[in-house]
Amino acid sequence: MVSKTSTSFLFIFFLFSGLSMNAQDGESLFKSTCAACHKTTSKKLVGPGLANLHEKRSKEWFKKFVTSSQSFINSGDADALKIFEEFNKIVMPDQIFSDTELNAIWDYIKSESPAQTNGDNIETVEEANLPFEPTKEDMLIGKDLFSGKQRFVNGGPSCISCHNVRKDNFIAGGGLAVDLTDVYERLKKEGVEGMITGLPFPQMKSSYQNHKVTEEETTQLIAFLKDVSEQRFYQGITSYKNRLLLWGLSGAVILMGIFPLFWYKRKRDSVNKRIYERQIKSRN
Ligand code: HEC
Ligand code: HEC
Repeated sequence: MVSKTSTSFLFIFFLFSGLSMNAQDGESLFKSTCAACHKTTSKKLVGPGLANLHEKRSKEWFKKFVTSSQSFINSGDADALKIFEEFNKIVMPDQIFSDTELNAIWDYIKSESPAQTNGDNIETVEEANLPFEPTKEDMLIGKDLFSGKQRFVNGGPSCISCHNVRKDNFIAGGGLAVDLTDVYERLKKEGVEGMITGLPFPQMKSSYQNHKVTEEETTQLIAFLKDVSEQRFYQGITSYKNRLLLWGLSGAVILMGIFPLFWYKRKRDSVNKRIYERQIKSRN
């Protein structure tokens, strides 16, 4: 009896929490998943500005595109293909949302659309056009943050564990994700910033959502990526293979030196002995 009532309460609760999704929830969904690449004004970021989207696309079209733009494009939709080509074939990551959530995001974008004519947004546009001229020091710190020589304040992994950049005298980075050598050129400051703060890709999200890269560190990283991008035509291609071999060999030599130390300790003071002693102790 009791459990039955509580189940129906729970059911009603979920029903309401589902129904009450409104433009406000749409706003937080938009800010956490789309804002890295889109503005609700008409200004481009990584993807197109979404102002007045509802005049251009149907809600059904929107849902299909957001859920899986690539399969939508492959299904032969001409508008989807056109916008994909217009944006240099950057793949928009698929988003897993319920229908209710998609409606909420749609409503939010729609509700923001007329606002693009008020002063707030005009200011943002001007701000975005300010030239980005970081100091040399920012650039150097950014380089160390990227390579892991300097740790992030909140302890996230170094970018080089997944990304490579082409730069002389710089160790080769991971091949898990795209090469970032020309990313500054492609996405500009705002776009790169969006990637670092908005974390639209799952791999980056899991690395940094609980280890936020600070605002200052973000500026320093962008300063480094700007430098890499501007200098890229003067850099030779790092010979990864030789370096890998060298790193591998020296690593092996170091490990060979370290392991005997562990074994030495184990021999004298075995694991079993320690467990044995602990148990004897806890009995008394
Ligand atoms: C990593 C960047 C990125 C993220 C994150 C992203 N988009 Fe996109 N989006 C793009 C790009 C790039 C395009 C242009 C088309 C293409 O290249 O596929 C695009 C296109 C679109 C379009 C088509 C616009 C038009 O004019 O037809 C819509 C609608 C859209 N995105 C909505 C969203 C929504 C909603 C979210 C969040 C749930 C989102 N996007 C997240 C990059 C992104
Ligand atoms: C756990 C792996 C991982 C780490 C660590 C990581 N990234 Fe990424 N990053 C990715 C993946 C995956 C993508 C999506 C593109 C792709 O599939 O290669 C991406 C995309 C990007 C992009 C957009 C690239 C483009 O061409 O659209 C930028 C910019 C970026 N990362 C910067 C950084 C920076 C700066 C750091 C360090 C703070 C970092 N990433 C750390 C995995 C990672």
